[in-house]
Amino acid sequence: MKNLTVVSNPLILRDITYLRNKETKEYQFRLALRRIAYALAIEISKEFEMIEFDVETPLEITKGYNLKKQIVLVPVLRAGLSLVNSFIEMIPNAKVGHIGLQRDEKTLKPVDYYYKAPKNLDISKVIVLDPMLATGGSSSAAFTFLKNKGAVDCVMASLIASPEGIEKLSSDHPDVPIYTAMLDRELNENGFILPGLGDAGDRTFGTL
Ligand code: PRP
Repeated sequence: MKNLTVVSNPLILRDITYLRNKETKEYQFRLALRRIAYALAIEISKEFEMIEFDVETPLEITKGYNLKKQIVLVPVLRAGLSLVNSFIEMIPNAKVGHIGLQRDEKTLKPVDYYYKAPKNLDISKVIVLDPMLATGGSSSAAFTFLKNKGAVDCVMASLIASPEGIEKLSSDHPDVPIYTAMLDRELNENGFILPGLGDAGDRTFGTL
């Protein structure tokens, strides 16, 4: 799929194995998630536009670089929060918006309960963070919301995705590049990714 980048390397594959393992404790789960988020941030940043300017070293003037656009991170509550800190460490001047979406357990449709984002979304690069792209309903709703608020340059950062979720998000928002660290096999009838890792929000926050 042209919109999809699966970010992978041996460290990520090892960390996904920690995440998949049902015996993994919360602190190990959070650490593995945090490491994968660094790798996602680095990969996504390859597409950032740059500005050039002169910088004076102690010895001479040379070319310096900075990011052209303001970066806005938008974690989808709750599980998206687990990716924020790594992205902020890599992009310290990023602004952060929040979208609260809860997937209805029966209909599997997202229900929104919170929204707060910085101004100037129209001239920012907006990165939605959600470790799980299952049916794709939550992330698709997040982009619809953000686009209604003016966002035009959007990216999806997920950790694990289903083919169904990728299909939905790329058909609803063909302009949005999708990054994930693992493309899994399928969804089950309850909308869980298989083989998956369970529910990232519950496993991160200990609310199983
Ligand atoms: C989970 C997950 C995603 C969403 C993915 O959130 O964290 O946000 O479901 O599913 P979808 O692609 O089918 O929409 P959940 O609703 O369980 O809320 P939580 O993050 O508060 O646990």
